[in-house]
Amino acid sequence: MKIVILTGAGVSAESGLGTFRDKDGLWAQYDLSEVATPEGFARNPVKVHDFYNARRANAAEAEPNAAHFALARLAREHVGDVVLITQNVDDLHERAGQDAMHMHGALSRAKCADCGAKWAAVLKMSARDPCPTCSRPATRPDIVWFGEMPEYMDEIEVHLTTADLFVAIGTSGQVYPAAGFVVEAARAGAATLEINLEPSDVAGLFDDQRIGPASETVPRWVDEVLSGASSKQ
Ligand code: OAD
Repeated sequence: MKIVILTGAGVSAESGLGTFRDKDGLWAQYDLSEVATPEGFARNPVKVHDFYNARRANAAEAEPNAAHFALARLAREHVGDVVLITQNVDDLHERAGQDAMHMHGALSRAKCADCGAKWAAVLKMSARDPCPTCSRPATRPDIVWFGEMPEYMDEIEVHLTTADLFVAIGTSGQVYPAAGFVVEAARAGAATLEINLEPSDVAGLFDDQRIGPASETVPRWVDEVLSGASSKQ
């Protein structure tokens, strides 16, 4: 059985990283159009770097939680393929021992807004930092902003159409294309499961649901899959 997993901010919430759309979430505190669009960066690069420098500092202090570790265990011990796609820009999956396709980019990388070169981000970045490839002072975070194309889309497409089980964890299902993955996977024949603190706005698109904090629901689900007790095998 091939399992394709999509994670969102909810999987890192119990590590102390804020989600975007929960009450007091990041988009209640910041204007998305100012800090998460190419236009906002062109208008005020200092504000955008301040926002992502703070996210990078928070992520560096955070530790993976039981949900990240359980998913890494699933990848190690499940006999079939396990593919992990994340909308998160933190590195908590990697620090729990599992590589993920970061479709919305990564705080750990910098990118040249001019030539597109990518390199390892320093903790505190500035637009004045010169690009190591073209030397221009056009450094931006390697984050996929609204209006930009998410990464790994061709590979993700293949995985969605060959999945036996698609699982979305800790995501509100409000941002496309990720929000449409459940429909694509289901159309190709996959069973679908949502694991979230509460039913998301797109909960009705899933065959099955597990409700509760990811640090509890995900390890329980992984135990069931690995023991053969899950009906979604
Ligand atoms: P959201 O903040 O939109 O949704 C987080 C989801 O996690 C909500 O449905 C919460 O109910 C749920 N949640 C909160 N705490 C949880 C917990 N402890 N256990 C399980 N679930 C929990 O975050 P995303 O769906 O990841 O994009 O947001 C998608 C994208 O929108 C982000 O990647 C980001 C944002 O704008 C960009 O910045 C491009």
